[in-house]
Amino acid sequence: MNPVRHLLEVDDLTAAELATVLDLSADPAPSQALEGKGMALLFEKPSARTRNSMEMAVVQLGGHPVSITGGEVGIDQRESAEDITRTLACYHAAIGARVFDHTVVERMASVSPVPVVNMLSDQAHPLQALADILTVKQVFGEMSGCRIAYVGDPNNMARSLGIAAGLAGAEFVIASPAGYRFDSVDLNRIASTGREAQVVDDPVRAVDGAHVVYTDVWVSMGQEAETDEKVDAFAPYTVDERLMSRAAPDAIFLHCLPARLGLEVTEEVLYGPQSRIWQQAENRMHAARGLLTFLLGAP
Ligand code: CP
Ligand code: NVA
Repeated sequence: MNPVRHLLEVDDLTAAELATVLDLSADPAPSQALEGKGMALLFEKPSARTRNSMEMAVVQLGGHPVSITGGEVGIDQRESAEDITRTLACYHAAIGARVFDHTVVERMASVSPVPVVNMLSDQAHPLQALADILTVKQVFGEMSGCRIAYVGDPNNMARSLGIAAGLAGAEFVIASPAGYRFDSVDLNRIASTGREAQVVDDPVRAVDGAHVVYTDVWVSMGQEAETDEKVDAFAPYTVDERLMSRAAPDAIFLHCLPARLGLEVTEEVLYGPQSRIWQQAENRMHAARGLLTFLLGAP
């Protein structure tokens, strides 16, 4: 029997497997890999895109999604993360989890007889990064030679995007203020894709000639206590029309959403002609379908 495959971070896939997942995401006749089966979707934090895209992906694969809030099951309060996982696996062919602490999804995966998918943790947001690479491929066709500039907080999103960009063969550059930088573990992890991330202070330098300009909130879910200091530190990093004008003429703007208008991005850019945010949001569902098909071993 093949070992159970999980997706806790994008580099749980090889570069070739990432390409396969992206191909499966575009399959007009998706497999019925979940026919007659369920998938549990456990949320410790709010979600619009992830819950809806995952539920619909499960339905499109013939399955039945069951969304659960963290409060219902009481992770490590009512019951351990391990026993919740073992229980859910009695009924479901796969488990998705959105958690505060990344070690919780690691613990879930360590005992799970079915695939565990990280639907966002403090460390990673791999499902979003898959959809982002799918979007970039749809727009530009090729990833090689593509420069992806991330302007803002080196957070879960940035980490997964950097890894996904490296595996897909794109250049990745991140601009953030001193004090808010990837550590050497993060940088080494991106470098082990075969491509090093470039780290700069200056957002103009990052965006110079970029094909994709990407940002995310400065204050992620669970970091609310840091709001004031982060809003101050990141103030020069707003993606506005002036910054976009330094990118390649055909550059696109991406944001995983939800956005904080006037902070990490202006209204003109978020809803402007270069923005592909709705294509990106739709791709969450297609990428989820491709990933689940791959993980369930029914390409
Ligand atoms: N981008 C994203 O994950 O959105 P939600 O938090 O709404 O799921
Ligand atoms: N970095 C953000 C992403 C939300 C989809 C967060 O973790 O809140």
